[in-house]
Amino acid sequence: MTETTLIVCTTCRRAAGGPPATRAPWPGTDMLEALESRELPEGVVTLRPVQCLCACAKGCTVALSGGPERWTYVYGGLDPAKHPDDILKAAAIYAETADGIIPWADAPTEIRTRAVARIPPQA
Ligand code: FES
Repeated sequence: MTETTLIVCTTCRRAAGGPPATRAPWPGTDMLEALESRELPEGVVTLRPVQCLCACAKGCTVALSGGPERWTYVYGGLDPAKHPDDILKAAAIYAETADGIIPWADAPTEIRTRAVARIPPQA
């Protein structure tokens, strides 16, 4: 089990990449609350809210990060009403990896089809 951070954009105005909400609460805030209301999988030690992952047209967005020696994933087009459980399943798989690479076939379908970027380790 390797330390994993689930980063959540709280300022996303779109759910599932749809039209932007015009007033708060923002879908990104809803996503954070939905994730906070669930039990984090073992090994996911931190839920980290941030403002903007620079994928605004693809909100809601989250990222999985696990330190400088592991790959980082950014996911978008997520819906706080539909995807929190799948996000946590992907986080649990990520937490089990040494290199941060989630085997494509293992990731929940709703998550693997919403990858926006995969960023290599820094080391
Ligand atoms: S506001 Fe969420 S990615 Fe920019």
